[in-house]
Amino acid sequence: MPIPAVDTRALTRRFGSLTAVDSLTLSVESGEIFGLLGPNGAGKTTAIKMLVTLLPPTSGNATVAGSDIVRQQVAVRHAIGYVPQMLSADGTLTGYENLLIFAKLYDVPRSERVGRVRDALGFMGLDGAADRLVRGYSGGMIRRLEIAEAMLHHPRVLFLDEPTIGLDPVARQAVWEHISRFRADWETTVILTTHYMEEADALCDRVAIMHLGRVVASGSPAALKGSIGKENATLNEVFAHYTGDILESGGTYRDTRRTRRTARRVG
Ligand SMILES: Nc1ncnc2c1ncn2[C@@H]1O[C@H](COP(=O)(O)OP(=O)(O)O)[C@@H](O)[C@H]1O
Ligand SMILES: [Mg+2]
Repeated sequence: MPIPAVDTRALTRRFGSLTAVDSLTLSVESGEIFGLLGPNGAGKTTAIKMLVTLLPPTSGNATVAGSDIVRQQVAVRHAIGYVPQMLSADGTLTGYENLLIFAKLYDVPRSERVGRVRDALGFMGLDGAADRLVRGYSGGMIRRLEIAEAMLHHPRVLFLDEPTIGLDPVARQAVWEHISRFRADWETTVILTTHYMEEADALCDRVAIMHLGRVVASGSPAALKGSIGKENATLNEVFAHYTGDILESGGTYRDTRRTRRTARRVG
């Protein structure tokens, strides 16, 4: 059996009395594009932050590329790329300069840096903009630059938190196309979060739908669409099926959560 790209066992993070991620158990195979879906506050970012070693779990455990996220943080960090939810590129530098900083940060050998930066710019379709200041880039270009930054060291597992949030449909499409090429060209595993269901449907091999910190359904988009007893269901309808009724049921979060103790797995 190949080592899973990500393997979590009852991974849990509490903030005071709030359980942001509640017993997350999932396994992502090497080379998969895996989507963590869920409404705002579902716990997606908290889950990603634990997996990229930025936030210690309260309990449970996880490995990324075979290394433990608590006991082998350095190995995990070497194996991953991470694009956070908030835009983070430096607007006062050019795209090329931003990338060169990351090449140094990731310890790309000096003799390879310029080549890697040029490759990454080409891969993400930014050749023509390389020497322009990033503050003149569109939101979609900045996102593609950030993804380029996160791939400079050829990570085995790439974490993208809301890679297309706030982008117009054309820019989103461009980001999707680049993400799907990661697997084809690099055999990179991609874990992404999104609340755009059509994006998850088009891109992801498998998804897990999170709500109030728990996985309420997981499987391939096709299997999930077949699981709700409605012909030609869309992933949006799947999402509403597994999360919507909780929102409308009244009662406290804790009450509704108790009724959902058992995560549903299909496919
Ligand atoms: N540093 C923190 N301190 C306290 N609560 C937090 C912190 N980070 C996240 N939360 C809470 O945890 C829950 C999950 O948040 P988050 O992981 O950001 O969800 P998502 O990314 O799915 O929108 C939310 O209720 C959020 O307010
Ligand atoms: Mg988030």
